[in-house]
Amino acid sequence: MKAIAAYGGPSGAEPGVFELIELPPPSPGPEDLLVRIEAVAVNPVDTKVRSGLPDRGNCGGIPPRLLGWDAAGVVEAVGPGVGRLAVGDRVWFAGDISRPGCYAEQVLVEEAICAPRPANLSAAEAAALPLTGLTAWEALFERLGLDPQGADRDRTLLILGGAGGVGSIAIQLARRAGLRVIASASRPESRAWCEAMGASAVVDHRQPLPPQLAALGCATVDAIANFSDTDAYWSVMAELIRPQGSIVAIVGNRAPLDLNLLKAKSASFHWEFMFTRPQCRTPDRGEQGEILRRLAAAVEAGELRTTLTTRLSPINPANLALAHSRLEGGRCIGKIVLEGWP
Ligand SMILES: NC(=O)c1ccc[n+]([C@@H]2O[C@H](COP(=O)([O-])OP(=O)(O)OC[C@H]3O[C@@H](n4cnc5c(N)ncnc54)[C@H](OP(=O)(O)O)[C@@H]3O)[C@@H](O)[C@H]2O)c1
Repeated sequence: MKAIAAYGGPSGAEPGVFELIELPPPSPGPEDLLVRIEAVAVNPVDTKVRSGLPDRGNCGGIPPRLLGWDAAGVVEAVGPGVGRLAVGDRVWFAGDISRPGCYAEQVLVEEAICAPRPANLSAAEAAALPLTGLTAWEALFERLGLDPQGADRDRTLLILGGAGGVGSIAIQLARRAGLRVIASASRPESRAWCEAMGASAVVDHRQPLPPQLAALGCATVDAIANFSDTDAYWSVMAELIRPQGSIVAIVGNRAPLDLNLLKAKSASFHWEFMFTRPQCRTPDRGEQGEILRRLAAAVEAGELRTTLTTRLSPINPANLALAHSRLEGGRCIGKIVLEGWP
């Protein structure tokens, strides 16, 4: 099969960071699907993992690393323990970061964390959603404990980083659950995108947040989902969260965080890491397959839309380099997806 190996280096745009290679097709373990990749989304996790890899000239003897865990494809073969999905099914998934990724024509993924993809989306439109959709769902409805069915209607959620991949689907999910969503964006085009995703109001994260929130009539908010820099927003989140409110973050901190800032308010803090369930093989990892089924049903019902904004074709080293350098710029709106093999 064709695959694209990734190497280290400070920028994804450097020549030689990606290389088209041939590998033997993998064969499924008992619970695995072998999926032919039709479209793969790029995510900041791809650029973060790539930046820690050895340079192309310094990787003698190390097997090539395949990145990319966010994809749509067709099931080509199944292991003997697979029961719910079958050869020919069109699926989507965000996979397991501890296994080889989807910058390849074929990939192995455990059936439990896959689901049929929405029938009304193209492969590229579908591939935009699994990783960010799972992250947003787990962050809002599991870590923050908000109710996807609307029992928390009219509570206020502040989303930091509203126009990125995770923010774009989180705004939609929160609005669908009836929440009042205040999203952050710093440019006219990212602000407009947040509004198109359903944000009730948009604040500028390059300007002080408390006066902007106060001007919207909420000096504090019920919950905060931080999809950006945890360190940079720590103290302002402590200021903005209401007493007994909850905060979730998805980006690891660089310096120790002062938990005491949350004590007087008895506010809670949660981490969300989308790969926890598959990587740690938690007994409930099949919940990710269920979340993907719920997301697909909501897309098919017209309640959620794809967050695809940039489609690059084919899946090749040049387009991956372009996608990685755009992601590294930190100003993406929605999702970049690569589709089709040369
Ligand atoms: N823990 C997990 O499971 C998990 C899952 C997915 C992603 N992540 C991490 O979460 C982060 C976001 O992922 P993503 O896919 O949404 O990234 P992304 O699509 O690259 O995010 C781009 C957005 O970030 C916004 N942004 C830039 N600087 C910001 C700031 N100072 N404050 C708030 N927003 C800012 C930009 O908005 P403007 O242009 O308007 O400034 C832009 O729209 C990444 O670090 C990623 O690695 C973690």
